[in-house]
Amino acid sequence: GKGEYDHYMLKEIHNQPTSLSNTIEGRIEDGDVAFEDLAAGSFEDIETVQFVACGTSYHAAMYGAQLLRATGVRTEVLRASEYESMTGPVDEATLAVAVTQSGETADTLDAVREAADRGARTLAVTNVVGSTAAREADDAIYIRAGPEVGVAATKTFSSQAVTLALLTQRIAADVPSATPVEDRATMLEELQRLPEHVESVLETTDADDLARETLDSESYFFIGNGLSHSVALEGALKFKEITYEHAEGFAAGQLKHGPLALVTDETPVFSIYTGIGDEKTRTNAIEAQSRGAPIVAVGPDDHPLVEVADARLAVPDTHPVWAGLLANVQLQLLSYHAAKQLDRPIDKPRNLAKSVTVE
Ligand code: F6R
Repeated sequence: GKGEYDHYMLKEIHNQPTSLSNTIEGRIEDGDVAFEDLAAGSFEDIETVQFVACGTSYHAAMYGAQLLRATGVRTEVLRASEYESMTGPVDEATLAVAVTQSGETADTLDAVREAADRGARTLAVTNVVGSTAAREADDAIYIRAGPEVGVAATKTFSSQAVTLALLTQRIAADVPSATPVEDRATMLEELQRLPEHVESVLETTDADDLARETLDSESYFFIGNGLSHSVALEGALKFKEITYEHAEGFAAGQLKHGPLALVTDETPVFSIYTGIGDEKTRTNAIEAQSRGAPIVAVGPDDHPLVEVADARLAVPDTHPVWAGLLANVQLQLLSYHAAKQLDRPIDKPRNLAKSVTVE
């Protein structure tokens, strides 16, 4: 049951310190990443990795794809419904990774079957043991988030992003041409502190007040660059899904190429940053602010965006790779509290299903 919580969504948001500990448990050994059932060296013949996914899982896939690209491995990330029309060349040296919480999403199953037909090796990254994706793929890795009842994916996004981050380090260790990221040891150390950092976000968040202050806005914008771009897209998806308010996520630098026309004092701009490659986010946030938009800085304290922001959703100091996931927890809480104040049916938003088994 929901226990002390009003909704499953809030319970699942608060479960993240535990679900993330489960995701990480036993997978970092002496500074190396290990997955049960996947022998070291098992990716040594892989030259290209394709991530395929839908919705929130696609945003987690974007997160993982960027980390893999940083190691020099050729990487694509494709919306599963676009797979056939968008894929690059596929052969035996291609690893197609289906990222799917349920393991039953029709579009994702279709894409990974198509990749297999073209010769790719397939890997399912899923939450559900025995799901179709897990059974059909050559290999499966479980995100171990535990059951998620709320239609809006929350703890499973966090566990997917962490699992994919670990997977990228596993792949990079195997692929001969890949260069593991320089500060990998620090990155993995900080990952082990992620559950306690999430706990501290849950204990100190101002998301409830901020949701009240920004309620009745015309539209809600979420911007970020690099890793924060995927968090911006996820923040906007969650917000529209459960509040029924209009929300959009953008790569920060794209704001001036059109969306800026919509920016007024009625459109708060949630600006997500991690501490690397955020200069575009700062300059574009300031641009929106000069058109009257309130700027909410979502990220760690020590950053130039904090000085210009009108409001804050703060996260603890951590490695930049994990900061976006902490920012995402703040945005989950923002969406939750906004939806609650609007009296929406949070756990079962209209027109949506937990698992989308039709194309
Ligand atoms: C959003 C949400 C959906 C799913 C998408 C894919 O909160 O839950 O966007 O992420 O339908 O589902 P899975 O991960 O089961 O393939």
